[in-house]
Amino acid sequence: MSHEQIAADAASLESPAGCCRSRRAVLGGGLVGAAALTLAACAAPSEPAAEPSATGEGHEVLSASELPVGKQASVKINKADVTLYRRDESTVLAYSAICTHAGCTVVAGDENRFHCPCHDSYFNVADGSVAGGPAPRPLARFAAAIEGDKVLVYL
Ligand code: FES
Repeated sequence: MSHEQIAADAASLESPAGCCRSRRAVLGGGLVGAAALTLAACAAPSEPAAEPSATGEGHEVLSASELPVGKQASVKINKADVTLYRRDESTVLAYSAICTHAGCTVVAGDENRFHCPCHDSYFNVADGSVAGGPAPRPLARFAAAIEGDKVLVYL
């Protein structure tokens, strides 16, 4: 998946205007089941994206020892920039490193936040939600896992 595809996918998944227009159209049509599905997928812009399940191809990006607990790292998978945070011994969180403001690359920041240096947006490492600056939406998420001594990210 290309860098541009990831940015486009993230934008389409998190577009509140398109999402809410669809919700109104569905509710107006009286399709209750479809409305429930649409509402579930239509989170407010500031809410973090749900942690995805591990589907797709698992890419070994680091050894677990290269990403100590509480630390962040930036990796590239094919051409996609991905930022990582190791929450505890058995959990690593992975996000698209494409800033939701204007598409710069997000990097490691302070202890609890990723940083976009272009216009000083910050994102919480725990869920990718916006913690400051002009970014309008959370970072897109990827499934990630620690298996043995390997850190895997699923794209
Ligand atoms: S592009 Fe990231 S803050 Fe503007």
